[in-house]
Amino acid sequence: MKYTRTLILAVLILLVTACSGQKSTTVGSDAELEKRIEKLLSRMTLSEKIGQMNQVSAGGEISNYAEALRNGQIGSILNEVDPVKINEFQRICMEESRLGIPLLVGRDVIHGFHTIFPIPLGLAATFDPALVEEGARIASLEATAQGVRWTFSPMLDIARDPRWGRIAEGSGEDTYLDARMAEAMVRGYQGTVLDTTSMAACIKHFVGYGAAEGGRDYNSTFLTERQLRNIYLPPFEAAVKAGAMTLMTSFNDNDGVPSTGNTFILKDVLRDEWSFDGLVVTDWNSMGEMIAHGFGVDRKDVASKAVNAGVDMDMMTFGFISHLEELVASGAVKESVIDEAVRHILRVKFLLGLFEHPYVDVAQGQAVQYDQSHLEAARRTAEESAILLKNDGVLPLKADDIRTILVTGPMANAPHDQLGTWSFDGEKSHTITPLQALRERFPGKVIYVPGLRYSRENRDRFDDVVAAARRADVVLAFLGEEAILSGEAHCLADLNLIGSQSELLAALKAAGKPVVATVMAGRPLTIERDLPNCRAMVYAFHPGTMGGPALANILFGDVNPSGKTPVTFLRTVGQAPLYYAHNMTGRPYNGETLLAAIETEAGQTSLGNTSYYLDYGAYPLFPFGYGLSYTTFSYSGISLGQTVYRPDDILEVSFTLSNMGEREGTEVVQVYVRDLVGSITRPVKELKAFERVRLDAGESRSLTVRIPVSDLAFYGLDGVKKVETGDFQLWVAGDSASGEPVSFKVQ
Ligand code: NOJ
Repeated sequence: MKYTRTLILAVLILLVTACSGQKSTTVGSDAELEKRIEKLLSRMTLSEKIGQMNQVSAGGEISNYAEALRNGQIGSILNEVDPVKINEFQRICMEESRLGIPLLVGRDVIHGFHTIFPIPLGLAATFDPALVEEGARIASLEATAQGVRWTFSPMLDIARDPRWGRIAEGSGEDTYLDARMAEAMVRGYQGTVLDTTSMAACIKHFVGYGAAEGGRDYNSTFLTERQLRNIYLPPFEAAVKAGAMTLMTSFNDNDGVPSTGNTFILKDVLRDEWSFDGLVVTDWNSMGEMIAHGFGVDRKDVASKAVNAGVDMDMMTFGFISHLEELVASGAVKESVIDEAVRHILRVKFLLGLFEHPYVDVAQGQAVQYDQSHLEAARRTAEESAILLKNDGVLPLKADDIRTILVTGPMANAPHDQLGTWSFDGEKSHTITPLQALRERFPGKVIYVPGLRYSRENRDRFDDVVAAARRADVVLAFLGEEAILSGEAHCLADLNLIGSQSELLAALKAAGKPVVATVMAGRPLTIERDLPNCRAMVYAFHPGTMGGPALANILFGDVNPSGKTPVTFLRTVGQAPLYYAHNMTGRPYNGETLLAAIETEAGQTSLGNTSYYLDYGAYPLFPFGYGLSYTTFSYSGISLGQTVYRPDDILEVSFTLSNMGEREGTEVVQVYVRDLVGSITRPVKELKAFERVRLDAGESRSLTVRIPVSDLAFYGLDGVKKVETGDFQLWVAGDSASGEPVSFKVQ
C-alpha cells in the first residue's frame, strides 16, 4: 500500500473531492497513520483485537449481529449489500461499541456490481487494461455507494486447464497478461487516490489454486517453488506493487501444505520479500478445511496454524473468535502476532477513511446504479472482448440485404446466464439479450425459435427451427453454457457444447442458409466439430448486462471485433493442459499425427517420434492471443535497436503495422520473447508486451515497443532472479503462433 500521503497531496485531494462530492479519506502522512494505529491498538483488549480478526457472513450464521458488533466481536461482514442495514451496522459499531471501530463490509464484486461487465476471462480478451480499469472503477462507484468497501477481486489464478470452472473468474493462462489485468483492476477498485469511492481490492487466491490437478476445483496442486516464482506469483507481486490492500488465501494444498497455513508464501514471500502491509483474509472456511485436509486435528489447532502462518482475518471458520484467547493464554500464539494482524486490519480501515465516513447516503447510492455511462462502458467492454474465431466473409452482416433473421439457441435470450458466474448483484431485469437487441434494431425482421430452451436439453429433431431457418435470410445461433456451468465448484470433464447444441447447429446448416454462431461460455469450449457447421463464429464468453447490443454491433459491423484469446483453445479436452508458454521438450512436436499411418502389428519404435498425441497431435485449435478482424493487418520491417543488450538496457523493437483492408480496425500487437538456452529449460515463447493499435483503412503506422531487458529475468537453477546472458529470439505478431523471429543477445 504505497500511497503517498503528503500534506500537499492531501490539500489537493480535498479540493478535488470537495468539487466532485466524493470525500477524501486522506489520513495524513505514513507516520501519522502508524501513530493512529498504535494509539488505537494500545487501547484494545485482547478480546477486542480478536474481534477485529473475525469476519462473518450476513446470511444469518450468528444469532445476534447487533450484540456481536456492540461487543466488538466482528471486524468485517461479508454479503450485506443493503445500505440501510449497512448504515445500521456502522452506527452500532461507531456509537455503541466501546472503541467505535467501523466495520469493513466485503462482497464478491467480481465483474461489476449492478452493471455487469464480461466475466474476467472476457475482460482479459480485450487486452485493454485501461478499459478494464474503467470497469473496475464503475464497479466501485456502484458498490461503495451502497456501503461495500471491500471486494474479493481480482482473482489472479493462472489457469491452464479449461475443465476448471473458475477459469472464468481470472485472466487465463498467461502470467504477463494476468499481471497487467491485476494492476488495472487494483487501480480501478481502489482509485488512484483514496476516497469514499475506493473499494479495497483483494487479490486471490494465494496461491496456485488454478493449477488444481485434473482441473477439478479444490484439488491439490504440486507446484515447485520455481514454478510458483516464475509463473504463479508474479501477478500477485504486480498487484501488491500497484497497492492492493488485501489478499485472500486459497483452498488448495500445494505439495502438502494448505495455503491458509503456509508460512513460506504468507510470510517469507508476501511480507518479507514484497513488504506487503495489508490484510490477509482466509477464503470461506479455508481455515476449517485444513482439518479435512488432515493438516490439523481440530478448529483450535488450525486456528493456531493459520494465525502463526500469517493470516489476519478468519472468513467463516469462527476459529479465531473461538480459540485465540486460549491460544494466547497457553503461549501457543504470541500476543505480538495478534497485534500485527490487527495493525494490518486497522490500516485498511483507516486508509479507506471508514473512521471519518462510515455511512452512505442511501438515496444518492440508488441514483448511481446502472448509470447510463456505466451501461455504455459495459457495452464497449463486451464489444472489445468478443473474439472472432472464424469468418468466411459472411460477417459483418449487411442489414439492407436481410429481410428475415432467425435468432435461435439457448443463449439467445438468457438474461440471467449471459451475466456469467459470480454476479451476485446483477439483475436479469436489466440485461439486454441478443434477442432483445436485435428485435429493437430490426423491428419486424426477427423470428425467434429457441431450438433448445437450455443448453443441456437433449433433442433429436429440430423440425420447427429448421423450418424457420428455411424462411430466414440468415441464422444467428447463440450457443454455449449457462452461468452455472462454470465458476466455483463447477468443473467439467467434457468440454464439447453440452446437450444437443452441436446437433442443432448441424441441423441449421443443413437448412442451407448462412449460419453465424455466437458462443457464450465461461471457458474455452472444444468447438472444433462445430466450426464446419457455421460460416462464422464469435466467442463472447459471458458478456454481461450489455452483451446483446454489443453482439448486435459486432455482427452487423458497427464495431470491428478486436478480442484475442486469453487462453489456448483446445481441439479436445484430452489435450489439457495445453498452453503456449510451455517448455521446450527434448523432442519438440513437428506437426505430424501418426495414428492413420500406423500399420497393423507395427513393431514398437520411438525413433523419430515427438511429444504429441497420436490422435490429436499437440497443436491447439486456436492459439493464445488469436482473434480475427473484419480487416487484416500485416507486420513488416521488424527490427531491433541493437542486436546486443546489457541486462539494464531497454530493448526497442520497431516495425510497421499496416491495415490491409477497407475498414478501420484495432489490432492487439503482441511481443513474445524466447530465451534460447538457460540454466533451466525455458518456455518456447513468453508474452512480454502488448498494445492495442487502431488503424484506419489502408493506414500504415511505424511503431516502437520498449521492453526493459530486466523483464526477461527469471528464477534459474540457483534460485536467484536474474537475466541470464545469451541468445534470444523475439516475435512481433497478432497471436502467439505467428510471425518470424528476430535474434538478439544479452551479455
Ligand atoms: C469462496 C470463494 O473461493 C472466494 O473466491 C470468495 O471470495 C469467497 N467464497 C467469498 O464469497
